[in-house]
Order: sequence, then C-alpha cells, then structure tokens
Amino acid sequence: AQNAKESLYIVSQFAASFFVKQLWETDEGRGIGLSYFKERGFREDILKKFEVGYSPDVWDAMTQSAISSGHKLEFLEQTGLSIKNDNGKIYDRFRGRVMFPIHNFTGRVIGFGGRTLKTDKNVPKYVNSPESEIYHKSNVLYGLFHAKKAIRDLDNCYLAEGYADVLSVHQAGIENVVASSGTSLTVEQIKLIGRFTQNVTILFDGDAAGIKASLRGLDMILEEGLNVKIVSFPDGHDPDSYMHHVGAGAFKTYIEDNRKDFILYKANVLLKEAGTDPIKRAGIIRDIVESIAKIPDQIKASVFIRECSSLLEIEERVLLSELNKIRSAKS
Ligand code: CTP
Ligand code: MN
Ligand code: MN
Ligand code: MN
Ligand code: MN
Repeated sequence: AQNAKESLYIVSQFAASFFVKQLWETDEGRGIGLSYFKERGFREDILKKFEVGYSPDVWDAMTQSAISSGHKLEFLEQTGLSIKNDNGKIYDRFRGRVMFPIHNFTGRVIGFGGRTLKTDKNVPKYVNSPESEIYHKSNVLYGLFHAKKAIRDLDNCYLAEGYADVLSVHQAGIENVVASSGTSLTVEQIKLIGRFTQNVTILFDGDAAGIKASLRGLDMILEEGLNVKIVSFPDGHDPDSYMHHVGAGAFKTYIEDNRKDFILYKANVLLKEAGTDPIKRAGIIRDIVESIAKIPDQIKASVFIRECSSLLEIEERVLLSELNKIRSAKS
C-alpha cells in the first residue's frame, strides 16, 4: 500500500508540473490563464510560490502527456485526475481551468482545485479532486505548507474560505493564512491548526453564506479549546476582493485593526437580524451564552461572561445561571 500511495503522489506532482508549464509556456496558458490571474491583480511571485497552473481546454491533454511520460493510467484514475466514461473513453477531470494544487503540510501535491474562466452560471465555479488514498479533504488545510512557519512564529492563524483568498492575503505580506477550501470547516482541520497555534482569526466572506459559516466555525473552534477572533469585510467582499480593492498596505492595517472577539461579532450579527423585537433580543443572549458554554476552560468562560454582561447590559448572575443551565443540560 505504501508503494501505491507513493505512485499517487508521483502522478499528482507530474500533473502539477504539467499545469504550471501550460500556464507559463503555452500560448493558450499565457493568453487565457496567465492573463486571467494578472487581471485579478496577482503578482507573478505569488503565482509561482503557490505553483498555480492552467489545464488546457481539450479532452485529454494531461492524461496523454502523463501516459507518454510512462505514468500508469491506473494511478491517474485513482487520484481522479483522469476519468473513464461509460464508453471506456479517458478524459481529464480538469479542462480549461486555472489550477490550484493542494499540498499536504510536508509540501507534497495531493489534489487540485480548478477554477473556471467562464462566467456561465451553469458551469461549476470550482471543480475539486475527489477523495483518494492521498487526499482526504476534511483533514487538509489549503496553504498550510506555505503558512506553518509564520503561524508558529506569529502564534496566530488566519482562516479564510478560498484558494484566491490565501494567495491574496499572502500577497499583502501576511503569510499565516490557510483556507478550508472545497469543504465547510471540520473538527480535523481545527485540530490541525491546534498543532501550530491556539489562536485563530476567521476571515470569511462578507456574504450571507460566509457570515453563517463564520458563526458555525467559531463555535467549533471554541469547542476545540482554541481562541477565536473574527474580521468581517464590508459590502460582501471576501479577503481576496477586499485586498485588491484597497491595496496591500490598507488591507494589512484593516485586518489588524478590525479583529473582533467572537462575542462582539456574534452580538453584532444577531442584533442586526433581530432589530427591535425584544423576544428575539432575548434569544440572542441565550445564543451567545451557548457559544460561551462551549469553551472547555471555565476561567476563560467566566471572563467572556463578564464581557457579555457589560456589552449587552445584562447582569452577570443572569448570564451565569443561563450558562449553568446549558452546562447541566449537556452533561
Ligand atoms: N468552492 C468549491 N466549489 C464551488 C464553489 C466554491 O469547492 N462550486 C470552494 C472553493 O475552495 C472556493 C471556496 O469554496 O475557493 C469559497 O467559495 P467562493 O467564495 O464562492 O469562491 P472564491 O474562493 O471567492 O473564488 P473566486 O474568488 O475565484 O471567485
Ligand atoms: Mn510542490
Ligand atoms: Mn463566498
Ligand atoms: Mn469568496
Ligand atoms: Mn473570491
């Protein structure tokens, strides 16, 4: 099994190098793929660092190139890079897309995300590698290999949603950033961050889906005993679009100055939803105390109860009795 796994790493690295070569050295790659990245404002050094590429818009270019270099179809199929249709015809999973290779934290390529260049709503924006012997989505954080040293040194990990976000945040000079990519945040991914730091700062999209995901994410992070802060972006921006909108310097300042602790963030989001309805407002308090109840460390939890009390102008003992109710219901 060890050898079989090694073969999957090898074909994945072959494909990554193939896509890189296509991007930089072919007319189609430069004309379509590279210009796309340039138009979005990505610098060449960032594109090279993350080994992004381009998959040509033909049926089986990558597969044919791999086969003629001596790679076995069997392994290409096992990584999902090549697919056999019902008629036995072989084709490439990724065609006419810009390619983001996904590395494990030792730096080996284990899968890909491919972004369409079309604006057609019927075409999926991203196609991702399927689960394989070497790629288990829920255990992988995109960008971790390039971020892990900075995460340790700075003792904080920025967590974004997408591939482009990771590249753009790096481009702004912030290297301690990863993304959950291709899946919603998992407990395994949080535990993986926990090997490098206890501090997470969520940088999710400012759209409705991103806000919902950030509320879910912060509860999961608290439950794993890590500290969590949130930076939100205006006007539905995501970190990538906001970085290119305001520029690297202003972006860096923005995320350093706009970290909110989770109570403040959650209170803001929920209060906006509730408006002036008193019953809804009472629900919010309960909702926030539920997040605090997830914190395993009792001393930390009591500090947040105090903060919540002054923020929402509710007596601390009321919040504490609510906290105890939730705790005893859980145990
Ligand atoms: N995603 C996916 N499949 C989709 C849409 C999204 O796997 N059909 C994943 C990708 O990892 C993507 C992340 O979810 O990077 C966030 O999605 P979204 O915000 O829609 O995309 P962006 O990363 O912002 O992509 P871009 O900036 O290129 O539009
Ligand atoms: Mn590599
Ligand atoms: Mn989004
Ligand atoms: Mn996004
Ligand atoms: Mn985006």
